[in-house]
Amino acid sequence: MSLPISLDDHEALARTRLDDNAWAYFAGGAADERCLAANRDAWHALRLLPRVLRPVAGGHTRVELLGRSLAHPILLAPVAYQRLAHPDGELASAVAASAQGAGFVLSTQSSLLLETVARAVRDDDDRGPLWMQLYLQHDTGFNRELVRRAEAAGYEAIVLTVDAPCHGARDRERRAGFHLPPGISAVNLATLPPRPDAPPAPGHSALFDDLLTAAPGWDDVAWLLAETRLPVILKGILHPDDAREATRQGVAGLIVSNHGGRTLDAAPPTAEMLPRIADVLAGHLPMLVDGGIRRGTDVLKAIALGASAVLVGRPYVFGLANAGAQGVAHVIRLLRDELEIAMALCGVATLDDLPADLLC
Ligand code: FNR
Repeated sequence: MSLPISLDDHEALARTRLDDNAWAYFAGGAADERCLAANRDAWHALRLLPRVLRPVAGGHTRVELLGRSLAHPILLAPVAYQRLAHPDGELASAVAASAQGAGFVLSTQSSLLLETVARAVRDDDDRGPLWMQLYLQHDTGFNRELVRRAEAAGYEAIVLTVDAPCHGARDRERRAGFHLPPGISAVNLATLPPRPDAPPAPGHSALFDDLLTAAPGWDDVAWLLAETRLPVILKGILHPDDAREATRQGVAGLIVSNHGGRTLDAAPPTAEMLPRIADVLAGHLPMLVDGGIRRGTDVLKAIALGASAVLVGRPYVFGLANAGAQGVAHVIRLLRDELEIAMALCGVATLDDLPADLLC
C-alpha cells in the first residue's frame, strides 16, 4: 500500500499490520457497531457553509483550554493496552503528541507505567496538556494512591471516565477470542487488591450483584474533587442533566463521549448531543468531544458546535501500529493540516469566533 495520506489510509494500513486479536480490540465497537458508525455519519451529515474573499492571512489554530494556550485543539484520547499495537506503546504516543503540540490522555489501563510516560514528556515546553484518565476501582485506598501517583508524576488533570461501569457487549472481540498476550497488562493496576467475591445466591447476577456493587456514583465524583488538587474532567457525558449535575459538583470540564461506540450501542452520536450539552454549559466550562473524528473538517464542525477541543482515539493507535511514534505524529499532523485547510476554505482565520452560520 502507498503512503497513508489520510486517517482512513492509516486505518487500512493498520489492518494489514495488526493481528486479528489486536484488530478486533482496537477497531471494534459494541454489539452491531451502530454507534461506532453513527459517530462518523453524524459528522458527515453536517455541512460547512464557506465564506469567500475574507482575510485569513495570519490565521492560526490556537485555542485556550484550562488556562493554557494550545497550538491546536487536538488531543489523543485515552486508549488502553497500546503495546498491543506497537512495542513502544503509550510512550511513543505521548512523545509524538508532545512533538506535535497535541494533548495526551493516558489510560488507567495503560500498558506502561504512568511515571515512565510522564517522565518522557513532562519537561517539553511545547507539549500539549498531559492528563491522566481514571477508572475508579473498588478500593478507595488504591484510588487515592493512583491519584497521588498521577499528581507526583506531573499529570495536569484527572479525566474521570463515567460511561463504562461495565464493558459493552463486544461481539467482535468475543468472536475473535480477544485476549491480552503475555507481557501486556494494565501495569498501573498491578497492586490493586482483588475484589471480594459476592457469595453465590439463587438468581445471582454477576453484573448487578457483583461487578456493579462497586460501580462509581456522583458521591465518588465529589470524593475525587475533594481528594485532588488537580482539575477533574468528566468523560462520557451525553445527557444534558448529567452535564448539569457535573457542573453543580464543580468539575473543570466535560468530554462529550460515547466511548467511541464501545459501550452502549444504542447511544446517540456525540455530534448530535454536543449542541444540547453546549446549551447547558453556556460557555462556563470547557466542553470537549470525541467519537468518529477523522477529518479536519470534523474538528472545525466540533468547534462550531461549541467544543473547546476534540480527542481522537483509534486513528492514532493505527498510526502507532503503522510506524510507532512517527505514525502517531503523522496522524496528528494530517488532522491539523486538514483543519487549517478547512478554516482557510471557510474564510475563517481563528477558532475563537466562528460565524454563527458556519454550519448548515
Ligand atoms: C478506548 N477508550 C477508552 N476510554 C477511556 O476513558 N479509557 C480507556 O482505557 C479507553 N480504552 C479504549 C480502548 C480502545 C481500543 C478504544 C478504541 C477506545 C475510548 C476513547 O478514549 C475514546 O472515547 C474513543 O476512542 C473516541 O472515539 P474514536 O476517535 O476512536 O472514534
